[in-house]
Amino acid sequence: PHTLHSLCSCVSGQMELPPRPKLFDFHGVYMTNYFTDNWDNVQNFQARPNDIIIATYPKAGTTWVSYILDQLYFGQSAPESLTTLTERVPFLEMNIPLIPSGVETLDKLPTSPRLIKTHLPVQFMPRSFWEQDCRVVYVARNAKDSVVSYFHFDRMNMAQPEPGDWNNFLQRFMDGKMVFGPWYDHVTGWWEKKQTHSKIHYMFYEDMIEDMGRELDGLCSFLGLSPSEEEKERVIEGCHFDNMKNNSMTNYSTDLVMDFNISPFMRKGKVGDWKNHFTVAQSEQFDEDYQKKMNNSQLRFRSTF
Ligand code: A3P
Repeated sequence: PHTLHSLCSCVSGQMELPPRPKLFDFHGVYMTNYFTDNWDNVQNFQARPNDIIIATYPKAGTTWVSYILDQLYFGQSAPESLTTLTERVPFLEMNIPLIPSGVETLDKLPTSPRLIKTHLPVQFMPRSFWEQDCRVVYVARNAKDSVVSYFHFDRMNMAQPEPGDWNNFLQRFMDGKMVFGPWYDHVTGWWEKKQTHSKIHYMFYEDMIEDMGRELDGLCSFLGLSPSEEEKERVIEGCHFDNMKNNSMTNYSTDLVMDFNISPFMRKGKVGDWKNHFTVAQSEQFDEDYQKKMNNSQLRFRSTF
């Protein structure tokens, strides 16, 4: 459904891409109109008590965890008409012209519970989710791999602002001038919320890479699910990077907003790819800045990558 064609206008038989969206300051957080145009409907969204939210800063492994939850709840039993994960796990605040918005898709979703994806910083979450005491699975990924993944994503995704060159992009990341704002505020904001809200399960990408079985057990216990060993094996196998990369349900191959000639969506799926991108000077500068920004938070990422 999210096709480049639906974003394009046809000028004398030639497909023409719409210009890349521009970043602007939206209540103190940088956003694009694709995520703010439907703001009232998003803020007034009526949650159901059994809704499950998958909340992340972009590139933290949203698709991975979405597919794990999809497989745990629905396996092969989801309606055949829902052929991609983006239809099965709607993106709450997304509102790209000519495509059904996240809210519209959610209103029509036939599956229950509803699995809902969001990149909203915690302060932007619609109140109804807290009032209904919904469960939230938050996934965080270390900052350096996040910025690398985000850079390649913005290169290939025509619905994202122009990334510019790597050095410039890295500076923008440190300045928080990214869609959905600063990584630092996002991960720490949700972490703070978790301290007072028992229904947030805070996960790390690096932990899933290390031991998927352990992380799946933790997730199931949070969700109150008890799949059989066989079922767990099926989920783990299906959610393996190579299998998701080859699966049209999960690899965004039908999403023509993305130009796979520039970079695939399922790109590397590794911890530590930042080492192939950061210079020593960039890494030192980033670390120094990171300390200042993260010092006041109890949230700690592992330092072993
Ligand atoms: P890379 O660009 O580093 O490869 P999101 O879904 O939040 O946009 O995150 C996308 C990132 O998660 C990409 O990172 C992608 O390759 C990675 N990813 C997706 N599925 C994965 C899986 N099954 N195992 C490991 N990494 C995965």
